[in-house]
Amino acid sequence: MLSIGIDIGGTKVAAGVVDDEGNVLRRLQRPTPSRSPEAVEDAIVEVVEELAASHDVGAVGIGAAGWVDTDQAIVRFSPHLAWRNEPLKARLNQRIDLPVIVDNDANAAAWAEYRYGAGRNASVMVCLTLGTGIGGAVVINGRLFRGRYGMAGEFGHMGVVPEGHWCPCGNRGCWEQYASGNSLVRDAKALLRENSPQVRGLLDRIGGDIDALVGPDVTAAAMEGDQIAIELISDVGFWLGKGIANLAAALDPDLFVIGGGVSAAGDLLLTPAQQAFDRTLTGRGFRPPAQLVLAEFRNDAGLVGAADLARHSMVEPPGVA
Ligand code: BGC
Ligand code: NA
Ligand code: ZN
Repeated sequence: MLSIGIDIGGTKVAAGVVDDEGNVLRRLQRPTPSRSPEAVEDAIVEVVEELAASHDVGAVGIGAAGWVDTDQAIVRFSPHLAWRNEPLKARLNQRIDLPVIVDNDANAAAWAEYRYGAGRNASVMVCLTLGTGIGGAVVINGRLFRGRYGMAGEFGHMGVVPEGHWCPCGNRGCWEQYASGNSLVRDAKALLRENSPQVRGLLDRIGGDIDALVGPDVTAAAMEGDQIAIELISDVGFWLGKGIANLAAALDPDLFVIGGGVSAAGDLLLTPAQQAFDRTLTGRGFRPPAQLVLAEFRNDAGLVGAADLARHSMVEPPGVA
């Protein structure tokens, strides 16, 4: 059975038709209309109509950047989007003639990596997606761990810096203010505004328009050897490793899978993360350390996982994932 997966993140909606081996047969992408839940809903309906016109699909899975309730029907809250107690599933059911499932975007990404990607053999796997925020998910013995109210895995909002940067969740010092695409861009812009000679290369790359800088600009510069860009990504890696050490203390996983847009930096991100992890992990030297690896699906993880969760809900009894 083919299914549609739709990953709704803070900046883009990535959708695709996925087969039962996790292959993406067709992709669509558009910017997330963040103004209103209605606009996001319209975008979902549009991509479903377009994809269902070319492929015979049996279900639709949504990975939403927000806190999905136990019944997987309502998006309770989203720090980066307009959802507040949004009955997303019911609304989509009214407009889409296919079974729809709703899950958190990072849960969906984790599921793709567990089923078909970097997490295939893990028994306790933690997946982190570094994009607008930090998405988190835990797969334990083949099942997504959802918590009592559906909201487990909101690791991006663990407090890591007392009185630190404000977060749209309403707190200060959240982890995602230090190890996400947004934090990378915020820090890069702050540095560019200082007009230090160090930033010449980065500034030239964006034609002097600091406001126009996006995360991939920094990543591309770093990949080409730009020193300040490398340092900015390394700072993200440092905070990533610190947070991962905290998660290891809490969950004792065998594997951390790192995905999302920032993971395109590859070893420029992973090496400093590994170093910070190695020197922060509690009990280090007296325990098997979890492995840190990059996600295999990268930006497709959310849509592949959402599609697979939708397909599973059709062919296997509920609760399997
Ligand atoms: C949200 C999560 C989401 C993550 C990645 C966080 O800010 O709280 O629900 O999974 O961003 O999109
Ligand atoms: Na999650
Ligand atoms: Zn927060």
